[in-house]
Amino acid sequence: MNRGRRTRRNDNVRRMVRETRLSKDSLIYPLFLEEGSDIKAHIDAMPGQYRYSPDRVHEIIDKCLDHGINKVILFGIPACKDSVGTQAYDEDAIVQSGIRKIKEEYGDEIYIVTDVCMCEYTDHGHCGILKDKEVDNDLTLPYLAKIALSHVEAGADMVAPSDMMDGRIEKIRRTLDEAGYSNIPIMSYAAKYASAFYGPFRDAAGSAPSFGDRRAYQMDYHNRREAIKESLFDAAEGADILMVKPALSYLDIIRDVKDRTNLPVAAYSVSGEYSMIKNAGKAGLLDEYKTMCESTVSIYRAGADILLTYYAMEIADAIQKGDIG
Ligand code: PBG
Repeated sequence: MNRGRRTRRNDNVRRMVRETRLSKDSLIYPLFLEEGSDIKAHIDAMPGQYRYSPDRVHEIIDKCLDHGINKVILFGIPACKDSVGTQAYDEDAIVQSGIRKIKEEYGDEIYIVTDVCMCEYTDHGHCGILKDKEVDNDLTLPYLAKIALSHVEAGADMVAPSDMMDGRIEKIRRTLDEAGYSNIPIMSYAAKYASAFYGPFRDAAGSAPSFGDRRAYQMDYHNRREAIKESLFDAAEGADILMVKPALSYLDIIRDVKDRTNLPVAAYSVSGEYSMIKNAGKAGLLDEYKTMCESTVSIYRAGADILLTYYAMEIADAIQKGDIG
């Protein structure tokens, strides 16, 4: 007679039959670098998260390493912005100098991914170059390639374009290859939706568009097959890892991309997902730790191989303690 409860009787057997296994190795922590010195600025929209200037970034990296997290994705907050996002690709700009500083101190102890986009660096806050108030796809491509190359020249281990321009993976791949960096992988934000869940990030990075929104380049959340289309394009253009973003409201998309492609799948549990759990916990409405554990496992169960999350350190601790994984 079938009794499902036999394999749920105690922790030993429950752990034995777990279908989803987690590893700290798959976690990436998003880190905000701000131009200037002696900065550790709290991001009010994301309680517990900070922006660091390069001279203090070792504080957070040491903390990551203590928790067993050795991968970060860098975002830059420049001191000044202009219409063509000069501070995104200048060799002495915030991300480039931050990478050099981190690599000088830590070398290969820390794996650096960089977010390649223009929205934090343009005065209009859009992810590309404008022509008549519209982001011009093909005008933007050389800029994205220039940004990616400047990150790699500074020492980045992997680049992650998040702009959603068509053809950017191919353009970046060719540019890196021609410069002798054919061994640097590209993690594509392949299925990136136009999402309200990015709200707190735009506060953190000061990157809200000054007019309009991003729906002309980020995806419409009504669409599921389009995520496969985008993922297959990026795979064909040479992406090494495909990302789905956000994560929690897009678990079906994670599963689709996993089933329909052969590349590792990353999921980005974005700022709004973090802030919702954090603030609900603070308000006493939910158990923050348990909610974090459950939602994290759901993302892996959906098919994610890699997770970008502001909870990376707490999740690593939960895995260490055996609460999940
Ligand atoms: C840059 C970028 C964004 C995020 C990652 N890269 C913001 C956006 O597209 O508006 C969002 C990350 C988060 O919300 O945690 N384009």
